[in-house]
Amino acid sequence: MRNTEPVSYDPASGTWSVFKYRDAKIVIADHEHFSSRFIETPSEEQPIEASILRTDPPKHKQLRSLVMQAFTPRVIEGFAPQIHSVAENMLDHALAKGKIDAVRDYASPLPIMIIAEMLGIPNEDREKFKQWSDALVGTDYAHYLQCQQDMSDYFALIAEQRRSCMQDDLISNLVRAQDEGAQLSALELIGFCILLLVAGNETTTNLISSALLCLGSRPEDYAEVAADRSLLPQAIEEVLRYCSPVQSMPRRVRKNVVLNGHQFAEGETVDIMIGSANHDEDVFVSPQYFDIHRKSNPHLAFGHGIHFCLGAQLARLEAKIALNVFMDKIRCFQGDREIPLERLDSSFIFGVKQLPLILERR
Ligand code: HEM
Repeated sequence: MRNTEPVSYDPASGTWSVFKYRDAKIVIADHEHFSSRFIETPSEEQPIEASILRTDPPKHKQLRSLVMQAFTPRVIEGFAPQIHSVAENMLDHALAKGKIDAVRDYASPLPIMIIAEMLGIPNEDREKFKQWSDALVGTDYAHYLQCQQDMSDYFALIAEQRRSCMQDDLISNLVRAQDEGAQLSALELIGFCILLLVAGNETTTNLISSALLCLGSRPEDYAEVAADRSLLPQAIEEVLRYCSPVQSMPRRVRKNVVLNGHQFAEGETVDIMIGSANHDEDVFVSPQYFDIHRKSNPHLAFGHGIHFCLGAQLARLEAKIALNVFMDKIRCFQGDREIPLERLDSSFIFGVKQLPLILERR
């Protein structure tokens, strides 16, 4: 598509798709012409539509400044010891069983534990959390709506409990802000909690499992990074580019605008093809190769502009610690070839369903 139809239009759905890096970067950041809002007045059943991800300025700025304090570099760095101990426990536990599925046993439980911790979710509710988060990126729409409803009820209850007994967690901070007069409706508060689950779990899981997939199929890269951990951050950036966990993001045309010679009309939708943009040969040298020594890597995996991923530093930290712990314990490994790799059933999330590994311990 980048070569033949870099800006394509589907008249049946009124949807444009932009495949080139340059166009993707313009659309994702130009909130004057491309809105993140899809439903003017979201109802109680659509909390995600009321979240920061789906708002435009000035509302966006106001919501973002309310939640920014939970994502400052200092707060995120503060999670490091906890992420480390959760990762160690999980890996030890999985190794004791013998065979490991890196998705089920490692990459998937880690992010959910950390977000649950951030939100202050009791331990006994964390399994429920995992099921909800899986359903939210699944393909069963009725189940998706039901889960949003269940999650709304759950977070409404937690918020009420916090109102009478504040704790040191994100939900308490948001409730406190509400009590102090911040313009944050109950629906927006719940939408934000649900968004964190949706935005922060599956994506980080896929970043970690894709990193193991890439490094597992290139033993020389694995050995090099394991021996020199200063290479780890750039290896993670390359995984973000090469296997972008979020493959596309939508926008709605707000005002008529011309992009790359095409007339976009108000009301039409646009799919920003992040995965394709991150393989654009006009920007990345030999984009089809996974290269941990890539010099310039301005990928769009976390977006660009005002909606730039709020959890980017957390995702990077989780991936770095998960891989560090893995490298401390595992000398080399490969995928179990007897079990075929299966991609997730999703058009916008990229990852594998399972990743069974054959390992050699240190
Ligand atoms: C926004 C990707 C992890 C929270 C975004 C956007 C992208 C993205 C592409 C921009 C959406 C847009 O422009 O419409 C990713 C990837 C992740 C990841 C690839 C992991 C590898 C996380 C984590 C959290 C998080 C761990 C939180 C715990 C958010 C939030 C937004 C966002 C709240 C909305 C920000 C706004 O609208 O201002 N993410 N994300 N993400 N992400 Fe992430």
